Amino acid sequence: MSPDLKASSGPSGQAVANDYDSFAEAYAAETESNLLNGYYVRPAVLDLAGDVAGRRILDVGCGAGPLLESLRDRGAIVTGVEPSAKMLELAGRRLGDGTALHQAGLGGGPLPFPDGSFDDVVACLVLHYLEDWQAPLADLRRVLVPGGRLFVVVDHPLVYKLVDPDADYFAVSKRSEEWTFGGRGAPMVFWHRPLHAMTSAFTEAGFRIAVISEPPPAPGARERFPEELAEVFKDPSRTAFLSMIFFVLEAA
Ligand SMILES: C[S@@+](CC[C@H](N)C(=O)[O-])C[C@H]1O[C@@H](n2cnc3c(N)ncnc32)[C@H](O)[C@@H]1O
Repeated sequence: MSPDLKASSGPSGQAVANDYDSFAEAYAAETESNLLNGYYVRPAVLDLAGDVAGRRILDVGCGAGPLLESLRDRGAIVTGVEPSAKMLELAGRRLGDGTALHQAGLGGGPLPFPDGSFDDVVACLVLHYLEDWQAPLADLRRVLVPGGRLFVVVDHPLVYKLVDPDADYFAVSKRSEEWTFGGRGAPMVFWHRPLHAMTSAFTEAGFRIAVISEPPPAPGARERFPEELAEVFKDPSRTAFLSMIFFVLEAA
């Protein structure tokens, strides 16, 4: 973790929201093998993806590249896009020169790939940063071959209502959080959308919903994170916790 992480600021002196450049190293270090990313989200995506040997896979918002590395280790031909220059640099260091990495993101025009370039696309913990899903999903559909798969992981929409019981679950609405790295705050802004808005956006963009998953944490999580999971699993018959929702979509 970077000990001298500096929060960047906008023209008014206010910290910029979702500024991954300003906490890239700290984020990458913290999420390398933590509960949420290392023992829940990434293993679940890899499970859903199954045998990926020989598949051309694009990871959009690849961050420092941990999922790209795991997919590559399983024989996939991987490409990453990431808007944060610092995150991309970390991904480059992890993956070496042989992996195609591009500084690009969703919502700023088409991705820099011809139609039908990929067998699978992963958008892991990314779409909840976007208010509008229509153009980004259409572009993800465009870069997939027919029958190709899109893996989406986003904040589970029920968590919004659990955290704030007064919130309007049914509205697409902006919410804010403060993350902390090395004692410094990082303002984060996300877009909540109800489940029906997610599924409609997928089908309108030309995807068929193959799987909706609310997976348990990976084997070994309970032993490795006993304190974090004590409350959730105080009833030993429980198997999972509410955090993210996972979709496997097929390009129609
Ligand atoms: C929570 S991190 C997840 C990183 C990686 N997908 C993973 O699961 O480890 C979110 C990433 O999405 C990137 N991101 C934010 N807005 C994006 C956009 N509009 N298009 C693509 N990526 C975006 C961020 O820069 C950051 O690297």
